[in-house]
Amino acid sequence: DKGTYPFYMLKEIDEQPIVLRNLITRYLPQNKEPQIGEGIIKDIKAADRLYIVAAGTSYNAGLVGARMFERWAGIPTEVHVSSEFAHDQPLLSEKPFFIFLSQSGETADSREVLQNINELGYKSLTLTNVEKSTLWREATYALPLIAGPEIAVASTKAYIAQITLQAILAYALADREQLDLDLEQELSKIAIAIQGIIDNKDALQKVANDMLVPSPNAFYIGRGVDSAVVLEDALKLKEVSYVQTEGFAAGELKHGTLALIEKDTPVIAIMTQPSLAGLVRGNLAETEARGSKTFTIVTKSIAKPEDDLILPDINELLTPLVSVVPAQLLAYYTSLGRGLDVDHPRNLAKSVTVQ
Ligand code: F6R
Repeated sequence: DKGTYPFYMLKEIDEQPIVLRNLITRYLPQNKEPQIGEGIIKDIKAADRLYIVAAGTSYNAGLVGARMFERWAGIPTEVHVSSEFAHDQPLLSEKPFFIFLSQSGETADSREVLQNINELGYKSLTLTNVEKSTLWREATYALPLIAGPEIAVASTKAYIAQITLQAILAYALADREQLDLDLEQELSKIAIAIQGIIDNKDALQKVANDMLVPSPNAFYIGRGVDSAVVLEDALKLKEVSYVQTEGFAAGELKHGTLALIEKDTPVIAIMTQPSLAGLVRGNLAETEARGSKTFTIVTKSIAKPEDDLILPDINELLTPLVSVVPAQLLAYYTSLGRGLDVDHPRNLAKSVTVQ
């Protein structure tokens, strides 16, 4: 039930702080070990490489999770688009372990991969929002995202839940004494930060109306973990607003895409990584010299007076949980401003059960 909300997408964006708190309560109870299950931890520790397999937004969440498995837990991790992996399988390591990310648990491309790797006898874990779904049942292990039903075709809270649950899993696998991170505390801070963005959503509606609603195209740029988030930012905007949007690593701009920048082309930069912000600012300046309209989303410690939206400082690999929220709202308001049916973009289905 949408209640007083005009569209499910806005309701589901609003629910994200609660989704985070529910995941903390379920998987990170105070003064206890992360509640992941011994079998999962043992089997992943016995593997020499993780393969994350997913589609669309879930794939974009995997790109963020991979960095946590590598940097926190020291496990080499690859992320694959399931429709490619299913029919063009890469060379596997000696002891692979598979992680399937899927809101619906029914995506046909991911099911095909799971069937293939089950035949090969490899172990797997599905993170899904739908218990008893096919990917839940057919994997060796499964953990629920407990995000509550996601009705809008464009995924929002499931992305947040997938990143959070991967963070908890990477944390459970890590040597936590070395890590210097209180994940429970950090996620609680993040829930508050997300709420702060939601409370100021009117400012984003204005940006959407001024900059994105009238534009045929738009670009999102970022480096490091932000280069993963901008893929999700671009997917969100294009699918609900039909503004043709690309998200990519900021350093790639000069290798081709800069040719598309004209007067008033919207370029949105995400900068959360102090060591990379200077480089992104340089890339952004190159677009401004060609007349782009820019919008910057920046963490506090690297913010300058001219920046547009300031996020609190949080653990670098967890910044996607916060930095994606303004992009979700920009997508929502651009769709709304264009008079579209936000929850039902043309040509798309919530669960893609054909290959
Ligand atoms: C985008 C979106 C899709 C899904 C994709 C995978 O907003 O919702 O890209 O993420 O179809 O679906 P699941 O996660 O159900 O496997």
